[in-house]
Amino acid sequence: MKILVLHGPNLNLLGTREPEIYGSMMLGDINTKLIELGKESGAELKCFQSNHEGALIDALQDARTWADGVVFNPGGYTHSSIALRDAVIACGIPVVEAHLSNVYAREEFRQSSMISAVCIGKIVGFGWRSYEWGLKALIDVIRDKSAE
Ligand code: DQA
Repeated sequence: MKILVLHGPNLNLLGTREPEIYGSMMLGDINTKLIELGKESGAELKCFQSNHEGALIDALQDARTWADGVVFNPGGYTHSSIALRDAVIACGIPVVEAHLSNVYAREEFRQSSMISAVCIGKIVGFGWRSYEWGLKALIDVIRDKSAE
């Protein structure tokens, strides 16, 4: 099983960016943890971060050719990007939306997502563990599907 973990804009600054909201773990440490967790469950992970909408779209389009699913934190693009929503639909594989912070306890504009309705599910508010639970759920969904 192969999974893409995709991080959107400003997530390269994790660890130093508003740690009271996003925690003190650096992106590299989160990726290392996820790769380990994936290995334990028999999933091979590729992690990619970009600050650019087009590069995220390219990564989703490319994932169609090799990945069984995606864990995606679109960062600020969550709330605005129709193009990313279209790319999630187009990639045709299950995508889980993950957010470190509880977006529902923050500014109103963060409570709407262009992405949620086209994802299989969404995990928010557990810091880096949102990715962990998102990954676990995605692996189970892919396994269930392949057993059908
Ligand atoms: C975020 C939430 C977004 O609203 C914000 O723009 C981010 C991070 C999160 O992981 O909590 O960049 O996606």
